[in-house]
Formats: sequence, structure tokens, C-alpha cells
Amino acid sequence: MKSEIRKKLIDAFQKANGGYVSGQVLAKAIGCSRTAVWKHIEDLRKEGFKLEAVQKKGYRLIHTPSVLTEEEILLGLETEKIGRSIFMYDSIPSTQKIAQELAPTVEEGTIVIAEEQTLGRGRLDRQWYSPKGTGVWMTLVIKPNIPIQQAPQLTLLTAVAVVQAIEAISGLLPTIKWPNDILLNGKKVCGILTEMEADSDRIQNIFIGTGVNVNEKNFPNELRNKATSIAIETNKEMNRAEYIQQYCLAFEKLYHLYLQQGFKPIKILWESYSNSIGKSIVARTINKEFYGVAEGITDDGVLMLREQNGTIRYIYSADIEFSNEQ
Ligand code: BTN
Repeated sequence: MKSEIRKKLIDAFQKANGGYVSGQVLAKAIGCSRTAVWKHIEDLRKEGFKLEAVQKKGYRLIHTPSVLTEEEILLGLETEKIGRSIFMYDSIPSTQKIAQELAPTVEEGTIVIAEEQTLGRGRLDRQWYSPKGTGVWMTLVIKPNIPIQQAPQLTLLTAVAVVQAIEAISGLLPTIKWPNDILLNGKKVCGILTEMEADSDRIQNIFIGTGVNVNEKNFPNELRNKATSIAIETNKEMNRAEYIQQYCLAFEKLYHLYLQQGFKPIKILWESYSNSIGKSIVARTINKEFYGVAEGITDDGVLMLREQNGTIRYIYSADIEFSNEQ
């Protein structure tokens, strides 16, 4: 939608102060037909505005979407490095892609955020639902001086940071489903996608993408049974800037701890938040299912499954579920 039309429409609703504005008045305000007004109203709805339409009365603005700004995030940010440099976009294909383009020239701790991703990516080449204005679609760039094979540990560290950030803003305590899904009430509230750029012996950049369903209330049918949002679970609209501040703070503290003391303290936290350690589960790999009790994770984040005969099976990649069998 053209920005002048958008502005004129929003002005007209703001002047009405929550009251109805007729289609005719709106048409006059923006200088077009009533049919065109309807189309522009639909565009506003797609941006997250909630507008009620009542015959013979017109339209009423019920809810204006919250917009993330760099200023708001920086204002309450208590970190030294993480999140201090912010690249904010309205609509882009994926924050991972933009972060990868920016990486050579940006400092460690830079975050790339989008209000909407048109080609949001999940693990295993899945799509990631990233509608406008309701979530936090963000990539954090870090440049750790650690051996390449330890990079997966940072995904586990990120899961711990997300759990702590959600707890800080909502009071809810999410759980982690191996390998790196964050759940509330058994449904996914956040997914993590970690990608790396490295030479033969050195990490250049790690791109930690986190997609958090913060204020989404209406998931598409195919996601409804498996996804949730913080707003659904608390019945309150959440402040996305506050989530970002808390995530950056939690990440920074855990990252310092990790660089000083190694993976052990992170692993203990990860296991304490996990929903499956000590439980009977089934791990479905591409061509086989393995049953057993989840014993814990290795230092590389590999899941250790104790099978019925007592042997430990190492699971590198699978979807897991609780099981009654062993
Ligand atoms: C998953 O659970 O499959 C991982 C989802 C990761 C989604 C985030 S949203 C921000 C970043 N940009 C992307 O395209 N993907 C990640």
C-alpha cells in the first residue's frame, strides 16, 4: 500500500478515537472509491491492524500492531556486546541470508531482525512461518575462537538463553525438546537454526537464527496442533523488544560462562530444562525407529538413548516423541 494512503487511513481512525468511520468518509480522506477503501483496509489487516466492519456504520480500529524499533530495544538493553549493533528490516526473505551478507563487516554480537520473513527457513530445509509483526525473527552473529567441532554446543547454549528469556518476560517455564525446539505446554514456541562459516581450521562466523512465536494468536491449520505463542499461553500481548533484551542478556551471560568454563555448566542447564531426559522416547530417523530412555546429551549435543538391552545408542539426527514402549 502507498505510504500516504496508509497514513491518511490511520489518521482518520485515530481522529475517530475508537469510533466508527464510514466508508464514504474514508474514501474522501484518501481520495478514492469505496471499493478501493475496502482493498486498503484488507492491506492494513495483513499488517496486523484489527479493524471491525459493521454495515451502515463503517469501520472501527480495534488494535494497532506493535512495531519493533532499534531505539526501543537499545533503551532497555543491559549487555556489553550482544545486540548492541542492530539491523532492522520490515520485510526480507530471511534474517539468516542478510546476516550472512553483512557478516564480513559487522562486529560480534550484531543482530539482524525482520518484522516479516518471506522465505523463513527452518531446520532440514523446512519452511518457517514468519508473519508480520507477531514474532521475533532474528539472527545473531558471533565469532567465537573455538574449535569447529564445538560449534553445535552454541545451539544448545542458545536454547538455554531462549528458555531464560521467555521465563523472564512471562513467568512461564518452557522446556527444551531435543535437539533444539523450545516448547510451552507441549507445543513449539521457538525454533533454532544455526549455520556456520569456517576455514579449514577456524570459525569465521556463526549465525544463530531464532524464531519465536511471541504474539501470534491464529496459526494456519497445519500448525495449529503443534505450535503455540507466548501470548496464547499467557493470554496477554507481550512486548517483543523486552524479549529481545532478555534474550541478548541471557545469551551474553551464558556465552561468557561458556568461554571461561567450557560446555559443562551449559550442559547441566540444558539437561535441567529438557523435557525428555530420563523418559521413554522413540527417536525416528530417516529410515528407522529407536526406542529407549533418553539418558542425556554428549558434549557435542548428540542424544544418548539407553536401549532395552542396556546399550547406549547415539542419535545424531531424528525427531523424538514420548513413548510407552521401551
Ligand atoms: C526450526 O525449528 O526448524 C528452526 C527455525 C528457525 C527460524 C529462524 S527465524 C530467524 C532465522 N531466519 C530464518 O530464516 N530462520 C531462522
